[in-house]
Amino acid sequence: MAAPRSTPLSQILPPLILGGAGFSYQLTPNPNPTRTREVLSRAFELGLRAIDTSSYYEPSEELLGDALSHPDFASRYRREDYVLMTKAGRVNATKSDYSPEWIRYSVARSLQRLRTSYLDVVFCHDIEFVAEESVLQAIGVLLEMVAAGTVRYIGISGYPIDRLARVARRARDLYGRPLDVIQNWAQMTLQNDRLERDGLQAFKDAGVCCVCSASPLASGLLREEGVPIGSLGDWHPAPQGLRKAAHAAAVYVAAQGDSLAPLALRYALRRAQQTSTPELRVGTIMGGTSVAEVEENITTALRVLRRDGGLWHWSLNGEPELGTTGSQDHLETDRGLFAGVQQLLGKWRNCSLSDDQETQVEGAVVQTKL
Ligand SMILES: NC(=O)c1ccc[n+]([C@@H]2O[C@H](COP(=O)([O-])OP(=O)(O)OC[C@H]3O[C@@H](n4cnc5c(N)ncnc54)[C@H](OP(=O)(O)O)[C@@H]3O)[C@@H](O)[C@H]2O)c1
Repeated sequence: MAAPRSTPLSQILPPLILGGAGFSYQLTPNPNPTRTREVLSRAFELGLRAIDTSSYYEPSEELLGDALSHPDFASRYRREDYVLMTKAGRVNATKSDYSPEWIRYSVARSLQRLRTSYLDVVFCHDIEFVAEESVLQAIGVLLEMVAAGTVRYIGISGYPIDRLARVARRARDLYGRPLDVIQNWAQMTLQNDRLERDGLQAFKDAGVCCVCSASPLASGLLREEGVPIGSLGDWHPAPQGLRKAAHAAAVYVAAQGDSLAPLALRYALRRAQQTSTPELRVGTIMGGTSVAEVEENITTALRVLRRDGGLWHWSLNGEPELGTTGSQDHLETDRGLFAGVQQLLGKWRNCSLSDDQETQVEGAVVQTKL
């Protein structure tokens, strides 16, 4: 089946997306088919209709392909009912390959692993680890796939905002059309608001119509339990000082009768909604490795987002983000808690989780692992 592509991505991307790294060894020691099927099935029952993964999140693509093609699931949801996004170019924790041969091989393998005839979005994964010329060449290869109908939309992902914006501008100038989407992680969070301040306008100027803001909990930093440990061990880039500040914030939020993880998700979703416009929509890619987490996260999201008749609604042009179960009181309580957390994060607010940004706090040595 050829990929249907007549509408801009902004018209089909829902505001809430499930991240596929939760089904990988990076985030969990035991990714497995049973749990993936259960998580996906529950997420879809609760209305989720978009998934982001990567060929690098081993074995997420295989597990997702198994779950999506399972008769119980496939009999309830058709392929065109959901948005499936993956990435190419990042091979493992220390290696990237953006050569045309690898990109072609990787996307063909993703199609096979995900058991689909087309991918809605393919991102060049973590563009900061390769030369910009290689990224531009890889974008050219993805555009051939768009022309062939195996890929509908293309984008780039990474942490450094300036570089994402520059590559988006260069790609538009080189190919005469903008990228459809940019994915950035952990920078529309209680800890870091650089995406909002430095990214959105620059991305819009490059003609991009969608942004995927990933890692609302800053990859598990903003929660009571602390950073996740998978088979890569303690890979999280946050320095000890930031971890301590995040822990103090979690204790503060608990004392107010709430919990840091849902609060952090509400912050990310509220900012994404507040900054979305008809020209540039900001979706949120949430994490979650178990049915319980995904249930909690979708329940949390419905405080901010509205879903009626099976459709997610966007609050565009600064409308108040009162979700299906949200109220003005919730909005005001959240504002107070956001301010309390941000005060406790103190000097660690906006410290970079990458050594590629200007505002790094001393000691924050890091490597992107998702
Ligand atoms: N460079 C890139 O392109 C890039 C980078 C980062 C993320 N992403 C995308 O964004 C997705 C989400 O990123 P992320 O996993 O970093 O998201 P996140 O929501 O910031 O963090 C997820 C981690 O937080 C924990 N968590 C999730 N919900 C929770 C809850 N309700 N209560 C307590 N803990 C909770 C989980 O840890 P436990 O498993 O330990 O419970 C999970 O591993 C990824 O799957 C990926 O698709 C892309």
